[in-house]
Amino acid sequence: MNAASPGTKSLDLSGQKALVTGANSGIGRGVAIALAEAGAAVVVNYVSGDDAAAEVVDQITRSGGRAYTHRADVSSEPQVLVMFRRMVKEFGTIDILVNNAGLQRDAAFENMTLDQWNFVIGVNLTGQFLCAREAVREFKRRGVVKEVSCSAGKIICLSSVHEVIPWAGHVNYAASKGGINMMMRSIAQEVAPDRIRVNSIAPGAIRTPINTAAWKTPEAYAALMKLVPYKRIGEPDDVGRAAVWLASDHADYITGATIFVDGGMTLYPGFTENG
Ligand code: BGC
Repeated sequence: MNAASPGTKSLDLSGQKALVTGANSGIGRGVAIALAEAGAAVVVNYVSGDDAAAEVVDQITRSGGRAYTHRADVSSEPQVLVMFRRMVKEFGTIDILVNNAGLQRDAAFENMTLDQWNFVIGVNLTGQFLCAREAVREFKRRGVVKEVSCSAGKIICLSSVHEVIPWAGHVNYAASKGGINMMMRSIAQEVAPDRIRVNSIAPGAIRTPINTAAWKTPEAYAALMKLVPYKRIGEPDDVGRAAVWLASDHADYITGATIFVDGGMTLYPGFTENG
């Protein structure tokens, strides 16, 4: 182990301040709870569903963690600025941004309205841009505090297997996720000299409200399993654990990478006995 090595205790995120967007449900909720379990103080961002967001904060504080809810639409520049200003006031700074907020508005391509297109791009891609920009500004202002982390800040973008798997009927969503890939890698290249790490997690089918139709009935679940070599649906906690590791100093030399948490969905299982 060299002098800069984080050692084995560094999955501990205590002293770090995290913002998770869209943290009231699904993957965001799982990531917020996992980061808090690892010791981070967490801002639970959400845009609707006050009770669900409050419940995430309750769960964190009941286990001795620190968290508060903040309602903001990540696609709105003024609301994002207010959210970051409050976080710096309440927590002093930000060490970890998890750009998670995302949604689907599915339609056959020829029927897709400009509103459906703009809404999905606005939240999934522009929202990640706005939050990442504010995080980078604060990371650069503060710099490395080596008692906290050997990095000046970490950004984790929630992408999807659909950053590489085309998805008929979901052109707006797949385009937003493809965009996240190049945005993430370009930011990573730009801010690496400032010791800021930027990476993505690309989940496959995770059991959340966004894809209930894909797992709710036994027939749907069986059809889904044809796409998943590992033969189980993912759980929010599968993504939560990956996020904790990626945010920790264990992952200190990793930037510009996408980690697929997908049970092998991107392994093209359709080719197992075909092709
Ligand atoms: C989508 C889910 C889908 C999964 C796998 C995710 O990005 O949001 O609806 O089940 O990809 O196709």
